[in-house]
Parts: sequence; structure tokens; C-alpha cells
Amino acid sequence: MPQAATATRTPDVPTFDFDPFSREFFDDPYPAHEAMREAGPVVWIPRYQVWGMARHDDVHTAFNDWQTYCSGRGVGLSDFAKEEPWRPRSLLLEVDPPYHTKTRTVIARILSPGTIKRLRAPFEAYAEELVDRLVARGRFEAVKDLAEAYPLKVFPDAIGLPDAGREFLLPYGNMVFTGFGPRNYLFEEAMRDGDRVRQEIMRLCARESLRPDGLGAEIFAAADRGEITHEEAPMLMRSFLSAGVDTTVNALGAAMDCLARNPDQWQLLRGEPTLARNAFEETLRLESPSQVFFRTTTRAVDVGGVAIGEGQKVLLFMAAANRDPRRWQNPDKFDIRRRVAGHVALGSGIHGCVGQAVARLEGELVLTALAKRVETIEIVGEPKRRYNNTLRGLSSLPVEVRAKHH
Ligand code: HEM
Repeated sequence: MPQAATATRTPDVPTFDFDPFSREFFDDPYPAHEAMREAGPVVWIPRYQVWGMARHDDVHTAFNDWQTYCSGRGVGLSDFAKEEPWRPRSLLLEVDPPYHTKTRTVIARILSPGTIKRLRAPFEAYAEELVDRLVARGRFEAVKDLAEAYPLKVFPDAIGLPDAGREFLLPYGNMVFTGFGPRNYLFEEAMRDGDRVRQEIMRLCARESLRPDGLGAEIFAAADRGEITHEEAPMLMRSFLSAGVDTTVNALGAAMDCLARNPDQWQLLRGEPTLARNAFEETLRLESPSQVFFRTTTRAVDVGGVAIGEGQKVLLFMAAANRDPRRWQNPDKFDIRRRVAGHVALGSGIHGCVGQAVARLEGELVLTALAKRVETIEIVGEPKRRYNNTLRGLSSLPVEVRAKHH
């Protein structure tokens, strides 16, 4: 058990003897999500000796209290105070203020509203070009040909990456996100070619690799101005490459899946393409590409009468929070008109996704391009799940679309 005090104060902390990183759980996480939400604000997961939070209110509170729930000891299962991280820690995600404030300020400025405005034209052009091509084909693989193809082109272009080496982005993202979980079968699989992939990624993060007019070069310009060091700059580049690809790939794949499975919502979007942005947001809530993140307690804390000790790992089930009936009406329904603000799919608080405007731009433009050109979307083959310790998504979604007649 966690702490002696826990046992005496709260003899019956709800305990969940299950594996939230198993294939069985990934295939259908919803019954366990519900059971945890119903059990109380916090549950104990003995298999990993961690606490779990699944209610919206508690997950949101934890994200917004970095003084108690820190990121500096890792946002995965591994406690950096006790073991070496498998890769040098992220200088953005896995640090706390005051250091975090410095790196976050630099990256947030690079991804400012001005940047997003500049990215719109090239992002829109490629969304239209790609969707035109797919509509002409009629039948395509929505994950590979759309959900992967789109971010893998527009995002590295925006960063200023060379073409050579982009094939390592998805394997690296897979490693990073699975690496937040336990060292299980997925970890072994993802790390099989790990040294090579990490080397290639760090090569892409070097200043010499980058086009001078991309977002990556701006990180090095910040180093020239003394805002960060020249050693920190490639590490912050790495944050773009770890966090910016797989997440949007899974989000776009989920959006296609949700729209194909909900023809009424697809028809709504078709009739009113300006709903694209909210449809993407609703996908993030319902399918939450990043399903979980951990925090570590910096002090003893009472959560709804449960005493959690210092130095404890807390697993935040964002996907469960995003379907909490205490917060959402008909939470399991895909409703593109829903007032969806307040979901935690992009985190919340000081570490809340710094790339969220980029993600939303991609989602909006792809869904708008589809809404303007496509009449119906039909799933024409067995979708396949992609297994990862953190991310939820599909590896395959064969679809057929019928073009709109003008
Ligand atoms: C739909 C797509 C995306 C999802 C679901 C997503 C999700 C998240 C979440 C949940 C966090 C918070 C992690 C935590 O609090 O521990 C986060 C942080 C972050 N995201 Fe995203 N993200 C997406 C797209 C992007 C993109 C496109 C970029 C890059 C442009 C990006 C870069 C980052 C970075 C660098 C952080 C760390 C911020 C910090 O620690 O201060 N993300 N993201």
C-alpha cells in the first residue's frame, strides 16, 4: 500500500486490479473508465503502484496544480527521481517552473497566432490538393493516405526539415509515447530499432539540417539572442518532432472514423463546413489521441478524503475525463455542435499543448476540404487498432468516398 497514513485514514480506497496498458484494456477502455469514475475521485492501481484519476474535475484540477502534481519527475510511469529516463528528458514537457517558463516562452512565441496565420495558406493548399487526389481515387486508406500523409507533409515543411529522414518521425513518436508507459511488450517492440531512430532524429534536430526560414530555425535564433543556450536548442527541436506528428495523425484518423460512423453528423458538416473546427475538437474529446499522462506528487495531498503521499505517481485518465457524465451530456455521443471547450485532450494549465493551434489548423483544413468535396464516406474494410501505451488511434481504416456533384 502507498502510505501508512492512507491505510488508517481511508481503509477502503477503491482498488483496481487491472492493467491499463494491456491490449484488452486498449480494445475497450470504456467499462474500466466508467468503473473508476464511479468509484471515486481517486483510485489505487496496485499493478503499477500508482493512483488513478478519471473524473473531469479531478483531472483538470491536477493539471492546474503543478506545485502539487509536478512534471519534473517525468510524465510517464518512470519516476526520474528514482531512475534514469530512457532518453534525455524533454526540456519542456518534463520540467517544472521556473525552468519550464523559460523554454515554454520561447516555443510559445514561435507558435504564436502570427505564425499560425502564416501557415494557413500552405496548409490549406495541401489539404485541398490531397483531398482532391483521394476523392478522384474514391477508395483509399484513410489512415495512411490521409491521416498520416497530411501532417507528415505540412508539419515537417513548416519546421523546415529536409525530406531525407522524415520516415523516422512516426517510429520516433511511437517510441516516445509508448515510452511513457511501463516496459511492456509495446515498449520492447517500439524500442527495437531505437538507437538508430534516436540518432536520426537528433540529426534532424541539428541546426545544419534545417531550412533557414522554418520554425526550427527560430529556435536557434532564440539561442543566438541568448534566450536559451545552443545546447538547449536541438533538444527543444526534438519536442516539435516528438509531440507534433503522431498526435495529429491519430486525431485525423479518429475524425475520419467518427464521421464515417455518424452519417448524420457528416451530413451536418457537409451542409455547414464552418463546423469543421468544432467537429475536430469534438473528435479530440471523444477519442482523445493522448489518452493519459502521469504526474508525481511533490507533497502529501488529500483528494476527496483519500490521503496520497509525497512522491507518488498519479495517472490522469484524460480520455475518461472527456467522457465524464458529470461534465458532459450524452458523453459517448459524437456531436459536432457540442460546446466542447473544457475537454482535457490537450492537457490544461502550464503544460497544456503548446502546439494546439497547429493541430486545430490541420484538423479544420482537412475536414473543410472533405466537407466541400465529398458526399458520403463509407468504411469498406475492417479497421485496425494501433497499440501504444499513451496514444489511441487506428493503423488502418479503408474507406470509399463519393464525390459531391456540382
Ligand atoms: C491533436 C493533436 C495533439 C494532441 C492531442 C496533443 C496533446 C498534448 C497534451 C495532452 C499535452 C500536455 C502534456 C502534459 O501536460 O503532460 C501536450 C503538450 C505539448 N504538445 Fe501537444 N498535442 C497535439 C499536437 C501538437 C502539435 C501539433 C505540437 C507541435 C507543434 C505539439 C507540441 C506539444 C509540446 C511541445 C507540448 C509540451 C508543452 C509543455 O510541456 O509545456 N502538440 N500536447
